[in-house]
Amino acid sequence: MGTIFSWQKKTIQGITFLRLYGLFSLKSQHPPLSAIPFIMALSSSQDSQQQERNELIRDRFSRTISYLRLSITDRCNLRCLYCMPPSSIIQHAELLSYEEMLRVVGIAVGMGMNKLRLTGGEPLVRRGIMDFIRNLTEIKGLDEIRLTTNGVLLNDKAAELRRIGIRNLNISLDSMQRDKFLKITGGDFFDQVWQSIQTACDLGFNVKINVVAMKGINDDEFIDFAKLALQRPVQVRFIEFMPIGNKENWDKSRFISAGELQTLISTLGTLEPLGQGRPSVAGTLDGAGATAGHGRPSVAGSTSSAPRLEGPARVYRLTTPDGQTGKVGFISPISHHFCDQCNRLRLTSEGRLRACLLHNHETDLKALLRQGGTDSEIQEAIRETILNKPKGHTMQNDQTASGLTHCVGQMSQIGG
Ligand code: 5AD
Ligand code: SF4
Repeated sequence: MGTIFSWQKKTIQGITFLRLYGLFSLKSQHPPLSAIPFIMALSSSQDSQQQERNELIRDRFSRTISYLRLSITDRCNLRCLYCMPPSSIIQHAELLSYEEMLRVVGIAVGMGMNKLRLTGGEPLVRRGIMDFIRNLTEIKGLDEIRLTTNGVLLNDKAAELRRIGIRNLNISLDSMQRDKFLKITGGDFFDQVWQSIQTACDLGFNVKINVVAMKGINDDEFIDFAKLALQRPVQVRFIEFMPIGNKENWDKSRFISAGELQTLISTLGTLEPLGQGRPSVAGTLDGAGATAGHGRPSVAGSTSSAPRLEGPARVYRLTTPDGQTGKVGFISPISHHFCDQCNRLRLTSEGRLRACLLHNHETDLKALLRQGGTDSEIQEAIRETILNKPKGHTMQNDQTASGLTHCVGQMSQIGG
């Protein structure tokens, strides 16, 4: 039997769509030769659609902004000393509704963004969060949803999260000592968090433990944290203490650069960079100690290849002399910033789009949403914010009397 087909061409907003009507031989195992031009035309049409979508999320510095971070709520059941003042009272009424968030995420994904992180505040304290996540998983084109949590409420929800397709969890843990955990977070929940980490590992999540490194507060535990990465299937990530969040507690004397941390951790064994990556040029706040002069960390045992930049983290395999291995990461927003690789856009819990964590400029999307803005107006606002994304922050140069300039806005609203 021969092959009969015809095709129809339609152009919508500059994108060419081809539709094939046809009858292929049922006996034939392969598409007939005459169908090949069609398949090629279709794939080039798909490519051009993808290209057009990528254009929408490309900024002025050729970065593709594919990663949206969504602060679900500014509420939290902890009060970490670097994040929120103990007395902070949080306004709830001004939060975006889940419907509004779903709409914005849908539009952003339509533009080509494909990765989402849910953060806060503590995302798991907001009522209805599991249904919301389930609805997010229905959005076509959204390849990955990740969650940052303090772990207090995670244990009971972990199995369900896994079932609906979440694979990656970042869990905050700044101390493994119960008393100190209480001192840092204001909550006596160490056991719950520890149990959650155990459960998450058992359920097969990729678990990353976020440790904010603070001199004089948890520096006596950095080695223990690195050992945790040797003992459990978790990646431990040390994060430089940033002057954002609770203004009272940031002080230059508490700051430890990623370079100092790497030097300390390398006393346990060799640090081998994982994969390829291209660290950006070091800043000045102890960046010199962090690098060997070319923006490359000076790490005992490292090879000449650069470490994998997993998001903003430089990731290494730690191997001890007795053969234990584990993964450790270093996040250095201050000493060694990664702005030239940044692919992020943030939506605050109150509906403001923010192109850079450390730049205070924000676009009020909530006003647009609540004044009847159309999808294309919202898309335009997202596009504008992406186009205005600054090249990078200069915080390491912005020295003030007390150390560094402090960012406006709470980390919990912006999203950690
Ligand atoms: N400095 C560094 N990291 C911070 N986080 C919040 N505030 C700060 C800060 N001032 C990060 C922590 C926390 C996540 C929610 O945000 O890693 O785990
Ligand atoms: Fe809550 Fe996270 Fe802020 Fe700690 S850092 S108070 S867990 S939002």
